[in-house]
Amino acid sequence: MNNEPRTVAVLGAGTMGSGIAVVMARAGHRTIMYDIDEANLRRGLDSVHGFLDHSVKLGKLSQDAADTAKRSLSGATDLRELAPSDIVVEAVFEDLALKKELFGRLDDIVSAHTLFHTNTSTLSVTGIASGSRHPERVVGTHYCNPAPLMKLVEVADGRHTGSPAHEATVAFLRGLGKTTVVTKDRPGFIVNRFLIPWENSCIDALENGVATRDEIDAAVKGSLGHPMGPFRLLDIVGMDIHQQVATRLYEQLRDPRFFPPPMVERMVAAGDLGRKTGRGFYEYDDTRLFGS
Ligand SMILES: NC(=O)c1ccc[n+]([C@@H]2O[C@H](COP(=O)([O-])OP(=O)(O)OC[C@H]3O[C@@H](n4cnc5c(N)ncnc54)[C@H](O)[C@@H]3O)[C@@H](O)[C@H]2O)c1
Repeated sequence: MNNEPRTVAVLGAGTMGSGIAVVMARAGHRTIMYDIDEANLRRGLDSVHGFLDHSVKLGKLSQDAADTAKRSLSGATDLRELAPSDIVVEAVFEDLALKKELFGRLDDIVSAHTLFHTNTSTLSVTGIASGSRHPERVVGTHYCNPAPLMKLVEVADGRHTGSPAHEATVAFLRGLGKTTVVTKDRPGFIVNRFLIPWENSCIDALENGVATRDEIDAAVKGSLGHPMGPFRLLDIVGMDIHQQVATRLYEQLRDPRFFPPPMVERMVAAGDLGRKTGRGFYEYDDTRLFGS
């Protein structure tokens, strides 16, 4: 499955779905972005185009490669249009019932060889796979945000994932230029087990006046070598998503380090979700999911 062009359906045209669509289209796969919400789908497609254009401006992608990637990308709001998919990558809201239902409906639409990948951050891969009659073809593939720039993908099998699906998934991800790590089907996999408590403690430091937003971001960049500070990162992640992920992990692990600090709820209530709404910890003119 390594480098052959495939048809890949991406469910959900939000932050992660758009990023994953860039990865697929740029690698030469026919990519269908599916979203239930037409406006979100349009914004997702626009964000993918914007990212490719920006890559050309930066000299990281040729104009030809960007045009080819754009031609391989299409949008859909009807699940039946995903019938030709070899791989379905699910990146809809972090909601177990929703993810299960989509995989169950797709059982009757896609072929008997289609792989089902879920990008869940906190839900059980086994639980999501139970929505499908083919749990042996369901694999957790947790991309890091922003997906087109970050190489790591965590791969987690559910209880009934078959070795052929696992192996084909790892080979496919490596063909995309990704680095894979294998993790158990546990809440937060590897990365969010450490990242979420750390992000919460940065928010807590800001809320308690330890230092300003800029000072904390600069301290993290300067000391830990991260390419961006926690508040720039949280603005890309989305505060609604951070709240959902942190709360789901707290519910499962009962460890208070996962519980989001009060500031998170205030920002979500105010609609200050980050880059996608134009304001989070910072302000943005460009609310496409990826911009310059
Ligand atoms: N944001 C992150 O940093 C990040 C990182 C890794 C994994 N994840 C996971 O990726 C998934 C998506 O997160 P996101 O940040 O892209 O969310 P998002 O809110 O930006 O996008 C979700 C999209 O799903 C669409 N959607 C909702 N219900 C749908 C349905 N029934 N059919 C089709 N589309 C539907 C919405 O319209 C929206 O466009 C979640 O499971 C999340 O936990 C997020």
